Amino acid sequence: MLIKKLVLSDYRNYSKEEFAYSDGINIISGGNAQGKTNSAEAIFYLCTGYSPRATRDKQVVRYGADFANVYGEAETRFGKTSVEITFYPDKNKSVKINGVPVSKIGELLGNINSVFFSPEELKLVKESPEDRRRFMDISLSQLSKGYFYALQKYKKILSQRNNLLKSDDKDVIYATLPIWDRQLAEAGAKIIKRRTEFLEKLSPFAAAAHDAVTGGAEKLSLSGETEFSGDEKEIEEAFYTALSERTETDVERGHTTIGPHRDDIKIKVNGEDVRVYGSQGQQRTAALSLKLAETEIFKSEFGEYPVLILDDAMSELDADRRGRLLSSLSGIQTIITCTEPDGIPQHEKYNNIKIKAGKIYE
Ligand SMILES: Nc1ncnc2c1ncn2[C@@H]1O[C@H](COP(=O)(O)OP(=O)(O)OP(=O)(O)O)[C@@H](O)[C@H]1O
Ligand SMILES: [Mg+2]
Repeated sequence: MLIKKLVLSDYRNYSKEEFAYSDGINIISGGNAQGKTNSAEAIFYLCTGYSPRATRDKQVVRYGADFANVYGEAETRFGKTSVEITFYPDKNKSVKINGVPVSKIGELLGNINSVFFSPEELKLVKESPEDRRRFMDISLSQLSKGYFYALQKYKKILSQRNNLLKSDDKDVIYATLPIWDRQLAEAGAKIIKRRTEFLEKLSPFAAAAHDAVTGGAEKLSLSGETEFSGDEKEIEEAFYTALSERTETDVERGHTTIGPHRDDIKIKVNGEDVRVYGSQGQQRTAALSLKLAETEIFKSEFGEYPVLILDDAMSELDADRRGRLLSSLSGIQTIITCTEPDGIPQHEKYNNIKIKAGKIYE
């Protein structure tokens, strides 16, 4: 998968700019606050409909403009495709794929795929289980629309079940809960099953990526932390039973205390929990390895790599790890943003794009 062109109009600090990317490594450089991350963010929007930053859609509209527009062209194994998103200050964004409007964001998924990595992704290793679930959810949603819709459904049922648990009328709670439990177990089982499969595949790829970046100095291992295993039906039944057994606790606490919304991934480096014992650099490298592994999953599922976006990721690695990372990227279209291109080994084949104040100047 190759992204060929990106056009930004009144998007963040860009009034009008067009990017042409090469098939290999693209280096987007410039000083702080010039628009490097903004251009990288726009690509991820075209792939998923979301910003990789915690952002509201309307924040991307350039100050004072009526709307913002992001247009991109890509080549995939199915041929050429284009995506266009228009953002408004006062209403929902609209999306067109190959010029045709689509009503659901789900339609966008799987069209152009990308994997995004930035220093913020350190939270993937360091922070709460929610960040690791989000990682699985974004990846699995791009891999399968079915997952995306099951997840939406699960979240909806979960919030309805939680609302019910907060009700004052205990009779109503006990009478209606089994219906919600059944639906929650059904949607939840799909999510648990897919996540388990995902982690089984991701694990060896992540170990290999980590081995490559650290030059064999560190060993990474991943394991899923969920209460349920087996095939989808078995998971559904076990989850349903667990929900009914916990009714008292759930009513007391006013929320659902078991399910995939509480799952986690355990990440170990050299046998130790990297979240607790890892150095900053080890945590960064582990997070990067997870993302590199994600590109391999796309390759194995779809037969082609996604676009890899490394936003400011180089400055975080020592020179050896940086060099090994770059040499492990052959065959993957990569967009790297950095303040100092000097930090990156020069190569005549790299496509260099320099940015200042929302303009390409070289
Ligand atoms: N809606 C908007 N309209 C105009 N400017 C915006 C908007 N949203 C963000 N900006 C500007 O974009 C700039 C930040 O751009 P960006 O995050 O791409 O910087 P960067 O080049 O990645 O910098 P750094 O090296 O610090 O990461 C900020 O100066 C911010 O004020
Ligand atoms: Mg930035």
